[in-house]
Amino acid sequence: GVPVEVDLTPIPEGQSIKVFWRGKPIFVRHRTKQEIAAADNVDISSLRDPQSDADRVKKGDEQWLIVIGICTHLGCIPLVNEGPYHGWFCPCHGSVYDTSGRIRQGPAPLNLAVPPYSFEGQSKIIIG
Ligand code: FES
Repeated sequence: GVPVEVDLTPIPEGQSIKVFWRGKPIFVRHRTKQEIAAADNVDISSLRDPQSDADRVKKGDEQWLIVIGICTHLGCIPLVNEGPYHGWFCPCHGSVYDTSGRIRQGPAPLNLAVPPYSFEGQSKIIIG
């Protein structure tokens, strides 16, 4: 697969964009402080797929969350900024993800996957 370059500068805080990498939708989300705090303020052991927010983002760049936009239940594309945790909501069978993309309610077994990516400077990422 060809790596995909994403310029982060046009993505305002609180919003996200969707890009495609290897034919898969990828959400690049610029999280607010409140969204980061909500993702941090969770008892990890209570999660279905226990993972800390710190393990899903890059240290020092916690405002950027990059996830593969494929519901881990049966593969629908979840809606961003929707659902009770304001993360993602999958309209197919009601899976609810939090602001770290972790599964919180509904039938999906796993968190939204984080693709391989790296920062190039402060305002660009390379996915892949
Ligand atoms: Fe998302 Fe079933 S595919 S809940």
